[in-house]
Amino acid sequence: MFLHFGRTLRSAAAPVLARALHSGSRASSVVPSRLNAECRLTPEEIYAREEKYGAHNYQPLPVALERGEGIYVWDVEGSRYFDFLSAYSAVNQGHCHPEIIAALSAQASKLTLTSRAFYNNVLGAYEEYITGLFGYDKVLPVNTGVEGGETACKLARRWAYDVKGVPKNKARIIFANGNFWGRTMAAISSSTDPSSYEGFGPFMPGFDLVPFNDAPALEKALQDPNVAAFMVEPIQGEAGVLVPDQGYLTKIRELCTKYNVLWIADEVQTGLARTGRRLAVDHEEVRPDVVILGKALSGGVYPVSAVLCDDEIMLTIKPGEHGSTFGGNPVACQVAVAALRVLEEEKLAENSQRMGELLQTELRKLPRDIVTTVRGKGLLNAVVIKETEDYNAWKVCLRLRDNGLLAKPTHGDIIRLAPPLTIKEDEMLECIDIVQRTILSF
Ligand SMILES: Cc1ncc(COP(=O)(O)O)c(C=O)c1O
Repeated sequence: MFLHFGRTLRSAAAPVLARALHSGSRASSVVPSRLNAECRLTPEEIYAREEKYGAHNYQPLPVALERGEGIYVWDVEGSRYFDFLSAYSAVNQGHCHPEIIAALSAQASKLTLTSRAFYNNVLGAYEEYITGLFGYDKVLPVNTGVEGGETACKLARRWAYDVKGVPKNKARIIFANGNFWGRTMAAISSSTDPSSYEGFGPFMPGFDLVPFNDAPALEKALQDPNVAAFMVEPIQGEAGVLVPDQGYLTKIRELCTKYNVLWIADEVQTGLARTGRRLAVDHEEVRPDVVILGKALSGGVYPVSAVLCDDEIMLTIKPGEHGSTFGGNPVACQVAVAALRVLEEEKLAENSQRMGELLQTELRKLPRDIVTTVRGKGLLNAVVIKETEDYNAWKVCLRLRDNGLLAKPTHGDIIRLAPPLTIKEDEMLECIDIVQRTILSF
């Protein structure tokens, strides 16, 4: 709850807002855009407005941002912060990367949406570029990460019926405990986190779970001839940056091939240079049958996601059997091409690897009685904070904010440290100093 009215309202328009926030009336004459232009709201007023008018499905850290550039964001009072969340790895290329924004604006003033009822002169160029870059026959463009997951599941089921020969409506998809791939009914049906699924049943049938990082359990599950696919994140991001043992990905590949099951790699968070390679599966040089990308596929400027696979799988879906009004729209395509080019041209995977090693080496020097674990790959990292009466991950994040660095706790005791991949060594050293000073201040 962030209903604080400690600060004085700054303009003549502000009392109108304050009345609107407190009144019980269902209609109001307040026009938000006019109000914003006329007065600068304090952070507390901004929190209160969201609290009053927005659904309470998030609990943001109290900081009200208005601008971003590269690795930095600024709040409404002009304070600058290092962004160590990168919008959950969507802003790998840094905030408002000029080349991505240029691609967005150029296409936005020319042609934004045709729907897939017609061809346009942009979609094919994007499809050719992304399939060439990742080495798959085809791409299916959608918008958000969860839609990518849904698309991959539908492809797997259709492939199971048409190619593998699974009897009608019997296809099963295996997931790993602790998985996170979004909030739709299908995604929460595979979730092991009660805060995702509790109170939202009934759930999607045909989903099974195995422990993450457990090849024998996977092998047992794959022996069911009706299994279509195993869908897994190469590193479990939302579960708290859980890195499996070296060799797990190779074993998945071997087992899926052995049992004629599709391996779907959910690279929505781990992909696109975040872990120090173009894809996280590249750490073991293995090739999934289906790859899901999202988040940084647009550099954080626009929702863009994609599913990549070969013809044997992709061509099982025929015209009219799957789609989306906005999927593959011209703006999304140009933004995605620019976002991918930036990752390649600026060698962000290499930088992520180098800066990640530096960050982890220094974090490991922190006292073990406060930071019990440091884990991650490249610039997808997490520290586990030992909770006491005096401190927990939330309190550490508040103090990090006060010291100029934004990070977000998950699961009470875990803090993810994932800056944009453009961060330079001197900037990283400054951030490490902030993290060390903050932790040692407890
Ligand atoms: C691994 C993974 N897959 C899928 C998603 C869902 O992406 P979106 O929120 O864009 O639907 C997320 C989001 O955090 C994710 O981390």
